[in-house]
Amino acid sequence: MRHFLDIHKTDRADLRGMLDSARAMKMARDGRPHGAPDDAQPLAGRMVALIFEKPSTRTRVSFDVGVRQMGGQTMVLSGSEMQLGHGETIADTARVLGRYVDLIMIRTFDESVLLELAEHASVPVINGLTDRSHPCQIMADILTYEEHRGPIKGRKVVWSGDGNNVCASFIHAAGRFDFDLTFTGPPQLDPEPEFIGQARSEGAAINIERDPLRAVEGADLVVTDTWVSMHDSQSTKERRHNLLRGYQVNEALMAGAKRDALFMHCLPAHRGEEVTNAVMDGPQSVVFDEAENRLHAQKAVLRWCLGV
Ligand code: CP
Ligand code: NVA
Repeated sequence: MRHFLDIHKTDRADLRGMLDSARAMKMARDGRPHGAPDDAQPLAGRMVALIFEKPSTRTRVSFDVGVRQMGGQTMVLSGSEMQLGHGETIADTARVLGRYVDLIMIRTFDESVLLELAEHASVPVINGLTDRSHPCQIMADILTYEEHRGPIKGRKVVWSGDGNNVCASFIHAAGRFDFDLTFTGPPQLDPEPEFIGQARSEGAAINIERDPLRAVEGADLVVTDTWVSMHDSQSTKERRHNLLRGYQVNEALMAGAKRDALFMHCLPAHRGEEVTNAVMDGPQSVVFDEAENRLHAQKAVLRWCLGV
């Protein structure tokens, strides 16, 4: 069973193969309208369940469109409307869904929900974001980086801000795709040491630098994300903003990176908080390419999971 649960749990060659497949499928569409099918229909006859226990724009639409382009069908389910949100166990939910659908993508809070679903489902499960990681996003981000600048291997990526779920998947990817990652942010919001240790054990240089300007020296890519994630209590907002204010990605910070450095953000962005309009809309920003590439990268993930 091929689940796509996290980048550091997926074979290196398979990850690289997915990016190659994503690029090929993107090229093959050759500018046709988004609603038009791909020439190849590898998901014909397949039903995919997309479960959301948190809000989503990109993940929801890109998975739905991607499955349809490849000839499959989708059903979008909200956790609160399922029995899952009303006491049915995750294991039983998994056993039932496996009798109806060919693949499950889930966006949830606690990672244990994802893992339990994968353990008990007889079909592949894809992680569409948990409190702890967001692997589909980083597959799209690496695809995007390499489209613009060539191989990410050996490059320096700087994460500025909260050491959150998206940051975690970047750290996982550093180990698997052989790039270096510097985290700059307050110690209270450091990424999980377990993830740092794992990436280091695979040979990635993972550094922590409290001074954002020193952190971005020599950076090929600067990345940030919202200061308050969906799993963070709104009551922590003020504290988090106070801790993170110095890590905003603005023109002064970008000027400290390499001249050809790119800027990425998984979106949704809070303009004027973690990133300024000038950077979001500036020449180094590839945020909308990242959003587009969610579609192409996830199509490759779906095919890999289903072996088609
Ligand atoms: N980047 C991302 O996952 O966006 P959504 O929350 O809109 O799905
Ligand atoms: N860190 C953000 C990412 C949203 C795509 C969150 O979890 O809310």
